[in-house]
Amino acid sequence: MNILGIETSCDDTGISIIKCETKSEKRKAIFDILSNVVSSQTKIHAQYGGVYPMLAKREHEKNLPIVYKTAIKRAFGRKKPQLDLIAVTNGPGLEPCLWQGINFAKKLSEQLKIPIIPINHIEAHILVNFINQDFQSSTFNFQRIFPAIALIVSGGHTQLILMKNFGKYKILGETLDDAAGECFDKTARVLGLSYPGGPAIEIEASKANREPSSISLPRPMIYQKNYNFSFSGLKTAVLYKVKNEKRKTKNEKYIQEMALEIQNATINVLSYKTFKAAEEYQVKSIFLGGGVTANKQLRKRFKQQARKYKIKLFVPDKKYSTDNAVMTAITGYFNWLKIKGKMPKNIEANGNLRLK
Ligand code: KG4
Ligand code: ZN
Repeated sequence: MNILGIETSCDDTGISIIKCETKSEKRKAIFDILSNVVSSQTKIHAQYGGVYPMLAKREHEKNLPIVYKTAIKRAFGRKKPQLDLIAVTNGPGLEPCLWQGINFAKKLSEQLKIPIIPINHIEAHILVNFINQDFQSSTFNFQRIFPAIALIVSGGHTQLILMKNFGKYKILGETLDDAAGECFDKTARVLGLSYPGGPAIEIEASKANREPSSISLPRPMIYQKNYNFSFSGLKTAVLYKVKNEKRKTKNEKYIQEMALEIQNATINVLSYKTFKAAEEYQVKSIFLGGGVTANKQLRKRFKQQARKYKIKLFVPDKKYSTDNAVMTAITGYFNWLKIKGKMPKNIEANGNLRLK
């Protein structure tokens, strides 16, 4: 079956078409990505230092028909489009933006006379790992993956989730205030760096010639006996330091060391709590997702720790760690199989991207 994914939870307008099938003899799911189009609004929101919801809503409204047309053309070329199911993000996310995607899906569903399946954006960030490179050549049995821990870190979310099995999730902890990506975005602004802050901080941190940094920031809630996070404390600490040392902010070495310490503090807290949960719940694997997992140092730290703890680690390709609609479509397929009582035992995702 061909699934059309629609993602408009934040500032990216994403539409993707994937071809999915389950080989009944092995109950194996196979995906083929026919098209994946994302129209980013980053430049538009840069002047505000964060996403401006009503502006994002208007952009989605304008972009959706264009992105849809491009996705159809890339997937089918001159052939007659064949779509069987629409998967649309219905939360969590920015409400006005979500409605744009949902209303677009409703109209298409009526026009094409095909069903809609609502998708949880966090679940989609997790399940997109099934098109991870590691899955390309091998078949994975769910029993060798679950239980698992998922860490979803983006501009809007920071959640640690226990996955007992496919579709059986328990939130172990989440941020009590700012999300990790939001903290990167806000502290970058304080340092006079560009938006989005995560990549800007990563670049500055990589230029610092001291490791560890001579600046010391708190690691909020790191040793508390729970799996919650707090990143607004880190943001405030940066704000105070910069205020007190204003003349130093003209110094690029100071900015680089501050960026390194912000990155280190964030990675320390995220990895410490994730592996603590992995140990407590005796999990077989860890799934990462969300824009912040594009950070190279974060990936490196998680890989090192996973090796030490002998836990399988799944990290999405960079293009699938930030918001996209491939993740929505894939989650649509799994949920569809679940509804139909046809969940596969194995997964083999080739993740072929056939762009025409
Ligand atoms: O998942 P995403 O694309 O959208 C949301 O759902 O929020 O995540 C965007 C967030 C932004 O806060 C951005 O600063 C952060 O991900 N981000 C990064 C990096 N690339 C993007 N954070 C740290 N390092 C990066 N390389
Ligand atoms: Zn997201």
